[in-house]
Amino acid sequence: MSTPSRKIFVTNALPYANGDIHLGHLVGYVQADIWVRFQRMLGNEVHYVCADDTHGAPVMLRAEKEGITPEELVSRVRGEHLRDFTDFGVAFDNYHSTHSPENRAYAEDIYKKLRAAGMIETRAIEQYYDPVKQMFLADRFIKGECPKCAAKDQYGDSCEVCGAAYAPTELKNPYSAVSGATPELRSSEHFFFRLSDPKAVEFLREWTRATNADGSRRMPPEASNKMREWLGEAGENKLSDWDISRDAPYFGFEIPDAPGKYFYVWLDAPIGYLASFKNYADRVGFDVADYIDPVKAEAAGTEMVHFIGKDILYFHALFWPAMLKFADYRTPNFLNVNGFLTVDGAKMSKSRGTFITARSYLEQKLNPEWLRYYYAAKLNSNIEDLDLSLDDFVAKVNSDLVGKFVNIASRSAGFISRRFGGKLGGSDAAALAPFMAEETIATLTRAFNDRDYSSALREIMRLADVANVYVNEEKPWELAKNPDNDPAVAERLHRACSTALNQFRALSIMLKPVLPTLVARVESFFDVAPFAWRDLAAPLPAGHAINQYAHLMTRVERKQIDALLEANKESLVTETKPVEAAKAAAPVVAAPAKAEEPTHISIDDFAKVDLRIARIVAAEHVEGAAKLIKLMLDIGEDKPRQVFAGIKSAYDPALLVGRLTVMVANLAPRKMKFGMSEGMVLAASDDKGEVPGLFILSPDSGAQPGMRVK
Ligand code: 2FM
Ligand code: ZN
Repeated sequence: MSTPSRKIFVTNALPYANGDIHLGHLVGYVQADIWVRFQRMLGNEVHYVCADDTHGAPVMLRAEKEGITPEELVSRVRGEHLRDFTDFGVAFDNYHSTHSPENRAYAEDIYKKLRAAGMIETRAIEQYYDPVKQMFLADRFIKGECPKCAAKDQYGDSCEVCGAAYAPTELKNPYSAVSGATPELRSSEHFFFRLSDPKAVEFLREWTRATNADGSRRMPPEASNKMREWLGEAGENKLSDWDISRDAPYFGFEIPDAPGKYFYVWLDAPIGYLASFKNYADRVGFDVADYIDPVKAEAAGTEMVHFIGKDILYFHALFWPAMLKFADYRTPNFLNVNGFLTVDGAKMSKSRGTFITARSYLEQKLNPEWLRYYYAAKLNSNIEDLDLSLDDFVAKVNSDLVGKFVNIASRSAGFISRRFGGKLGGSDAAALAPFMAEETIATLTRAFNDRDYSSALREIMRLADVANVYVNEEKPWELAKNPDNDPAVAERLHRACSTALNQFRALSIMLKPVLPTLVARVESFFDVAPFAWRDLAAPLPAGHAINQYAHLMTRVERKQIDALLEANKESLVTETKPVEAAKAAAPVVAAPAKAEEPTHISIDDFAKVDLRIARIVAAEHVEGAAKLIKLMLDIGEDKPRQVFAGIKSAYDPALLVGRLTVMVANLAPRKMKFGMSEGMVLAASDDKGEVPGLFILSPDSGAQPGMRVK
């Protein structure tokens, strides 16, 4: 079982610093962490790093909304992300930030080398500009009517209703999702990485085709097929140059010699892998050149392996290797690509409560290793989506982990402590043989190495069945009765329990990459050094003293899952499709959940919305806002509430004054460019766009300001 020692630099995709870690993220992190732990058990040297991906307009706008600096925001979020990963057993050697001096240095170095190699070009391009916010708008910050189906409020790149893809300039009646203003087309100079250069295309063709020195592939077959599709046939050139700059205001690194121009977030995101690695290496005291300099890396035989999701393959399979190559850095050896997570067969949904954050899972006291096990049981090396079927999750955890695995120890450990002074006896060689068979170990080694964890766990559970059959046949609980104190029966009890515990130990070694916390407790129970893969070769000998057994894992109950879903259900106020008024009034900075099936809410959910009759005591246009009217609303409080409503296209402010309407009084106040908005008025509009206009609600006569609507 001797394996030549490998030196591997492993990364996971860097999560954005503008959102929580959720169970969808965890698929790729758990997958990588298992692989890293397995490599270490083999004796390989692995450096496993990650970081927060901090730059870009969404972080800048979110910080502004929270009234803090982007630096404060990314520092807080980094702490939250790291805590989530740690609590799920994802044990990076370093968790850094792309907003770091190391990243700035590498980004500048790579950029300057690309420039010197003739791979950077500048060109003026026309883009939408928000005259109120005074910034160029990324596609997702421009909304308008779909040019194909006329659906309203579609993003600047594609329509969620008819699926059409288009340029933001094709939207009808575009508006800025940041301020509501009508955007203007303005020209600005941008920097491009010349990916269409024949040199780059040729390099990528070769890089995709070639294998590593040991003959291994660079990416899963589905990913190489994608690459071939993107690159086209020999002689074809389907690649476009890549726009790597953004104009101020932008949260990021300013481009050297180009004041007011910033590196696009995706330029410095993967460079963040190197930055985190460097930060770690400097702390630990080794030279990163052995891993990132092409000549030194080849001489040292080091490897660089990235774990990513399928949505970011394009960046990692085209831009990233090409950037590295032409800046004279080493290129990756392997891209592992995982699919998306679905829950109960559907896209994660906020209204169903299946958009589950890592933190909420932990807060509901669910064991993170249940999820690690479930993911592992479903993961293979293909780019397939993984379905978290919640009933299956409960069944699998209870049957495999509690019913099969832990059960072996709980049925045999007590007798060793109580009857044999905590010392193991001899084991049945025949009963241990299947656990030590060379072929079995080779199969498991291959499966873990190839990230085919589902096969590995199937094999491990087959062995757990073998162990349970052994215990069922030996019946230690019967042997323990031994009414005549027959020494031969006692000896058999000792042997049966020792054998079962050695079987349990072998299973624990095999499961250690997946269940590190549980297996650490198994190691203390056996009073042994941390398990290595080679420990599978021999059982614990007779006379080995073990510690008192403490129960290792509880069952998961379906009601815990239901509580988790409940905790993740977004309240009506945030989940309901915002009415027209709120759409313009609310700065949208995060992509909303995709259209979902209609779902019921409980009366309690509805009661959370505090709807009040409001009298419009003042109404006026807002300077610089294309869609907004500022309303002052009396709901019987000491002073009227200020609300910005996107109803300018339908109402003359003068005609609104004095009217009664209905407002949401307990919506969290939002800080807007024009001031605080302290609620929302309700208005009707035709989603299909067939009936133009907007209609605010009015109560029947007799209603008074402040009355509750329910
Ligand atoms: O898609 C994402 O979530 C990106 N933040 C991933 C970046 S991976 C790497 F390039 F930094
Ligand atoms: Zn459309």
